[in-house]
This record gives sequence, structure tokens and C-alpha cells, in this order.
Amino acid sequence: MQVIIFDDAQQVAQSAAEWVAELINKKSNPVLGLATGSTPISLYQELVNKHKAGELSFSNTTSFNLDEYLGIDETNEQSYRHFMNVNLFNHVDIDKSKTFVPTCNNGENPREQGLAYEDKISQAGGVDLQILGIGANGHIGFNEPTSSLSSRTRIKTLTQQTIDDNSRMFAADEFQPTLAMTMGIATILDARYVLLMATGKNKAKAVKDMVTGALSAACPASALQLHENAIILLDKEAASELEDQDYYIWANKQNLKINREFGLYHNY
Ligand code: F6R
Repeated sequence: MQVIIFDDAQQVAQSAAEWVAELINKKSNPVLGLATGSTPISLYQELVNKHKAGELSFSNTTSFNLDEYLGIDETNEQSYRHFMNVNLFNHVDIDKSKTFVPTCNNGENPREQGLAYEDKISQAGGVDLQILGIGANGHIGFNEPTSSLSSRTRIKTLTQQTIDDNSRMFAADEFQPTLAMTMGIATILDARYVLLMATGKNKAKAVKDMVTGALSAACPASALQLHENAIILLDKEAASELEDQDYYIWANKQNLKINREFGLYHNY
């Protein structure tokens, strides 16, 4: 894992945007894995700004979202499809027919839908760079604690903690889904690079468990310890429970030197 600690959340977003821009500018048919939630909103704003400044085109990009609620359709303002439209897709030149969200509508077989989503990712050549946030309970995507570390796209029942954490997005009398389709942990680990963003004090414990805790279904994000190219972008607050902060800061300086001398090498 490469842990990089920034002064604030804006710097986390700017760094994540540079990673995405590098991929898109380097590869002819880039495949992005996307996340929703509060954390990546500032990343998407940075990407929209780059696009408007003429620095970034999404015209050849294919995207796969991590997850989608069940029980609401894509026209619902709470759907993650709607979130992606409003925060990114409507403002850039991406071909929406190449943007995918794992859905399972009424009457559809969830097992078949999950397999079909996995197939679509394979047919696109696999995800080059997967953007992730982390739940306060250590979830990635909606892989809640107890998720199999070998899981694939499927339905997950949300934990009470996740339902409570996300209730801030829902009005008091609004239906809040308790089920979601989500890429599995193995699906996420298949991406060539994973870029996890975490900001704020309420993520500090989950970040500590992910980076230095036991590899365990109790903290699904700890599975990223097995990934060859896991980049963890943190603000100071999210990093605050890590014991080795000075080491990460020092190691990152060495990495920058190595990159300057030998050039960046990302094997997308
Ligand atoms: C969203 C997702 C979730 C969020 C996580 C953090 O697609 O998969 O894992 O990344 O719940 O959410 P925020 O950023 O709202 O704290």
C-alpha cells in the first residue's frame, strides 16, 4: 500500500484527479471504476474543471460504478446513476452508453445480473483505476463487514451503521433502501490500480484497520493489503490514528524523488 497524507481534503481531491487524468491521457480506451458518496464529489468537481479547461476528454472512457441501491430506479434522485449524472457525466463528454452501474430491477434475477456485470467488466478489458471511498465501518463499495474477501457482484444487505450514516442524504419521510447491488471484494481487487480516498476524523479508525489491522472480513477494506497497486490518499484527520505517519510522509518524499529520476511507471 502506498499511503499518502495531505494537509486537507481539497489536496486529496486534486491528487486523485491527477491520477485519473494521467490514466485517461495515457490510455486509448481507459476503464474507470467509480464511487459515489460525499468523498469523491470534490474529485468529480476537479475532473469537470479539467474538462472545461480543455485538459481532459472522457470521449474514449468506459466506466463501471461500484454499487447501486435496490428498490429505486435510475430516475430517482437518490439513485447512484442520478448521482453520477449530476456530479460528473452531465458535465463532461463521456458517452453515457459506456457508463455502467450494477442494477437489479424488479423481476430481474440478481445472480444473473451480478454475473452479467462481471462479464461486462471483463469484456471492457478490466478496470484500470478503481476509485474508492471507505465506510466508517471499513466497507468498500457496499461490501459490509463479514463480506467474503472473494466476493463478486451481488446483493448485499446494508448494516444499521451504514443505513444510519447514509440517512443524512434522505428526507425523514423518504424511502431509504436497505439493500444494494455491489461489486464484490474480488471484483475490486481485480482492478489494475485502486485509489482510495478518505477524509475526516470519522474515517480515522477504519483507515487504521485497513492499513495496519488484520486482514479480515471485519474490515473489508483490509483486503486492499493484498493489492499490488493500492494507493491510499488521506487528509490529516483521516490519517490521525495511523501510528507510522512520519514514515509515510518520509517514504512519499523518497517516492517523489524516485519518480523524478526514473519517471512515473503505471502499468495500466
Ligand atoms: C459509494 C460506496 C461507499 C462509500 C462509503 C463512503 O459508491 O461504495 O463505499 O464510498 O460509504 O461514503 P462517504 O464518502 O459518503 O463517506
